[in-house]
Amino acid sequence: MQVVATQKRPVSKIMIPHHDILGIEHLTADEISSILDLAEYYVVQNRRKSQTNALLKGLVLVNLFLENSTRTRLSFEMAAKRLGADVINMTGEGSSMKKGESFADTLKAINAMLPDIMVIRHAEEGSAQKAAEILDCPVINGGDGTREHPTQALLDALTLRRKFGSLEGITVSICGDIMHSRVAHSNALLLKKMGANVKFTGPAELLPQGLSNATPDMEEGLKGADAVMLLRIQKERLQKNLSFTEEQYFNAYGLTEEKLKFAHKDAVVMHPGPMNRGVEIDAAIADDPNRSLITLQVEMGVAVRMACLDLLTRKVR
Ligand code: CP
Repeated sequence: MQVVATQKRPVSKIMIPHHDILGIEHLTADEISSILDLAEYYVVQNRRKSQTNALLKGLVLVNLFLENSTRTRLSFEMAAKRLGADVINMTGEGSSMKKGESFADTLKAINAMLPDIMVIRHAEEGSAQKAAEILDCPVINGGDGTREHPTQALLDALTLRRKFGSLEGITVSICGDIMHSRVAHSNALLLKKMGANVKFTGPAELLPQGLSNATPDMEEGLKGADAVMLLRIQKERLQKNLSFTEEQYFNAYGLTEEKLKFAHKDAVVMHPGPMNRGVEIDAAIADDPNRSLITLQVEMGVAVRMACLDLLTRKVR
């Protein structure tokens, strides 16, 4: 069932009392629904190519990406520009942190320039919180280490809501490197808050100890799934070498048409990207228009980020 998107910007209904978006852990189910409702409006706006919006005209977004990114960074930039804001991008490589300046001093310098909103991605858990403590403007977490990636979970939720009408009662299997994935963490928090069932599957060495509803058995992990969410192995966060090769991993956990039969017969497939074809997912599944929601996820990312920028800047507009 498709959600019917409203054409009128749903301003009055939206209530987000937060100064920042640092994690799904801080959002209630009602707040998540409100963000998704506003994002629905922006999906419609974005599909009308000629539509321009000057809501954030005169405001400046600082996109501070101290870890690599394609989707998150570009979609925040696109979201801000579609709303009329100016965007300044900065990476670690091009910054004076390379000359020894600390993260905190970098944030203080940026704050002194009076940005209107900031997005930050950083390899360390808690870095977005630290930025929020230093910056006067709202801060959005674009991914902090293995902790949270809230806008990814929101865009995944929007994608699922458009497919199923509601998240209530659906079963989502998250597969792969659960241990190092901020996407898995944020999605699990969000999906449970919204009434979905969440299962985890992956190699035992990549499943956190004590995680409930987790199994290294792919068949058991996919059983009953309405959506299968694949994750890449986060090589940059591994503390030790893995006990298997990529080929062995693909044979055991790479999603193929054959393994997808373990899930619900109409199950859809998702991946936050970046995707490693032939490792965690077979190319035929990734490109199957009847199963794969991967491109839709990327599109929803722009709308969700527009909603977040819109909501967090309401006090300064
Ligand atoms: N899903 C995601 O965060 O992708 P990027 O690393 O390309 O931003």
